[in-house]
Amino acid sequence: MIKYADVIVDLQAGDTGKGKVCNHLSNGGEYTHVIRYNGGGNAGHTIYKNGVKMVTHFIPSGIVNGVKSIIGPGCVVNVDKLVKEINELQFNGVEVMGNLFIDKRVHLITDEHIVEDSKDTEIGTTKTGNGPCYRDKYYRKGVRAENSNFLKEMVIDIYEELYNNDDNKILFEGAQGFELDVDWGDYPYVTSSHCTVGSAVLNGVPPQSIRRVYGVCKAYNTYVGAKSFEKDEKVFEQIREVGNEYGATTGRKRQIAWNNLDDIIKATRINGVTHLVVNKIDVLEKVGKMKLFYKKQEVNFVDGDFYELFFKNTIKQNCPLVREVIFSRSAEKI
Ligand code: IMO
Ligand code: MG
Repeated sequence: MIKYADVIVDLQAGDTGKGKVCNHLSNGGEYTHVIRYNGGGNAGHTIYKNGVKMVTHFIPSGIVNGVKSIIGPGCVVNVDKLVKEINELQFNGVEVMGNLFIDKRVHLITDEHIVEDSKDTEIGTTKTGNGPCYRDKYYRKGVRAENSNFLKEMVIDIYEELYNNDDNKILFEGAQGFELDVDWGDYPYVTSSHCTVGSAVLNGVPPQSIRRVYGVCKAYNTYVGAKSFEKDEKVFEQIREVGNEYGATTGRKRQIAWNNLDDIIKATRINGVTHLVVNKIDVLEKVGKMKLFYKKQEVNFVDGDFYELFFKNTIKQNCPLVREVIFSRSAEKI
């Protein structure tokens, strides 16, 4: 049975620092399992562990702390790329075999899916075959992990794993983010899976088991894809460099924008966020310029402390479920 489940969910368009949050939370011995609940190789979660940079795509970031890690039924996987990722983690001293499991219901991304996705020019996808794989899943033409001979050793039934004793404490790690959610995002500039807290519940736990929801955002917004997102402001170039805003999966430039607090409030409310983590205010502090939009008004700040105070007060007024707002200035912890 499930004692409790905490969920990490991205409140923006991905790349907000979910990997860091997952690493930090799974490092304390509080969880028996870390479960990825949506998406595929389009995700790129950057983790710094003892100064070493690692990027995970399919594998839950909790693997770096030796926690049992499951790729849940809401995810899709490409076997070749998964093997490559396992090798990279092992090269960095992470123990993967014996800690990584894949639910039998996970759908497999085939070479044909990748070829098809690579032809996309309209959405600006990551060309990882994600969209065509989910399409085939819902069209009921997909192939699942239980059909793969290659993955045999790692394939489990997540039901048996989670309900075989009374003591399971789960950390769910989401991929992508609210603004890329297939329903809540700016359709069609979205991904092919659900990126809200509801998506975690689809991976085999009762809604009542959800204890905390960690909503993650940055002190500014970024987006990668085909739509035009970045306005013409010189400072965005600086933010991109200081914040290293280049895609962890594709290396593409992330487009930058000032935060719109109304959008963050919306994502916070809909996801039932209890703990809100704001990353990278230190980037704006270094650049020396910061603002955000709230109720369509531009609000300027002289420094990060004023930004933080305004942000916290506004969240407090609008989102009663939020118990804590954490501004994180570190790459390794929150
Ligand atoms: P993480 O988990 C940022 C974007 C792509 C594109 C759109 C659709 O690292 O936050 P897809 O390949 O999913 O069909 O592309 O979604 N995208 C992401 N952007 N972070 C991600 O994941 C993303 N996964 C997909 O750039 O605009
Ligand atoms: Mg990323």
